[in-house]
Amino acid sequence: MPVELTPETRAQCEAIISRYPDDWKEAAILPVLHAVQKEWGYVPMDGLKLVAEMLEMPPARAAGVMSFYPMFFKAPLGQHVIQVCSTLSCVLCGAKDLVEHLKEKLQVDVEGTSADGKWTLAKAECIAACEGAPAIRIDDKLYRDLSPDRLDELMAELD
Ligand code: FES
Repeated sequence: MPVELTPETRAQCEAIISRYPDDWKEAAILPVLHAVQKEWGYVPMDGLKLVAEMLEMPPARAAGVMSFYPMFFKAPLGQHVIQVCSTLSCVLCGAKDLVEHLKEKLQVDVEGTSADGKWTLAKAECIAACEGAPAIRIDDKLYRDLSPDRLDELMAELD
């Protein structure tokens, strides 16, 4: 299904792109993806094609950039997004247990959203809290030294 941006978001994207050289428009991809995701809450495949078209770049390269950054999502999100750091320090300190706990608790796979639409589970690369491993982010907030029990408490507070 083709998608279209609101005139406001399209104008915002064009303003962003205008700040970059004409022969290097793709350098604007991150702020443009943020603008698109702000409108829809995620960046669907057709939205990604639209971004690539605006930036005059191959859709596959746009997809490669988007998939590198954990803050962009390909599917609609739950009310809250839990990102579990899956880089070395956190893995060594129990991040895998947190992921397994969440998969079981929410009955989802990574990048899945719970049936009630409340929680999306995602993995992230280092979120700059290695001293407090394992670390997670729920929405825009960082939490350190997590255990499955502490995670349950946090989720109950947000539920
Ligand atoms: S390795 Fe997890 S926060 Fe850095």
